[in-house]
Amino acid sequence: MRAWALPLAFLTLAGCGTQPVSHDSVVVAPPPAAVDPKILAKRLISQQADWPRSRKFDCKRLKCVALTFDDGPNEQTARLLDILSRRDVKATFFVLGQMVAADPGGRLTRRIVEDGHELGNHSWSHPTLTGLSQEALHRELKGTGDLVEKITGVRMRLMRPPYGATNDAVAEASRQQGMAQILWTVDTLDWLNRSAGVVAQRGGEAKPGSIVLLHDIHASSVDAVPAMLDTLARKGYTFVTVSELYGQPPTPGLTYIER
Ligand code: NI
Repeated sequence: MRAWALPLAFLTLAGCGTQPVSHDSVVVAPPPAAVDPKILAKRLISQQADWPRSRKFDCKRLKCVALTFDDGPNEQTARLLDILSRRDVKATFFVLGQMVAADPGGRLTRRIVEDGHELGNHSWSHPTLTGLSQEALHRELKGTGDLVEKITGVRMRLMRPPYGATNDAVAEASRQQGMAQILWTVDTLDWLNRSAGVVAQRGGEAKPGSIVLLHDIHASSVDAVPAMLDTLARKGYTFVTVSELYGQPPTPGLTYIER
């Protein structure tokens, strides 16, 4: 296992170049789905008990790869979940609080958990966390963590800072909120190249222990997934969640870019 404390200058260059998300529109969380509160509470308790629902893989020996999808959920996410489900592939979704809040009834967010994927915190509104006050930084993370817990019953153990921009303050806030910082090994640059072929090829170049960065808000990225899975499967890869990649949830406050 390799944990890194990377200089900020490097990280800001390695941009998670997502399209800017509006920072000034605060989305108010809708009430959780219309589920009987007693049934919901029961389901939440049962999910919390075995979260994250990790399967056991020995990624020291196997060729493991962790596919990660940022900035959702949105309407593309359902299609992606169908593709992953058909192939029994598990992945990790770094969600934005404002997207979770806009997800009708929290259905996609809940389905990510129910399908056995891992959820991670990608802040509420996708700001550069290193530029925020201590209070705003905590609010960005806690708002998303609390909303996801309310909807799904799980408390996220992973976070990914927008644009990969981190520093000591972000690491400390993540540690205090019980989350490891997860960056990436392979950047598919899928936000820049909206070509499924290009994205599939870049993702297919993962090495054992790689964390691959994708965005499930782009149709072309979702279109790239079947070919990427084919290529990696042909090379003998096992698809795991981030926690499965390390055999356990990574340590809060530390930064990870690969196994
Ligand atoms: Ni992002």
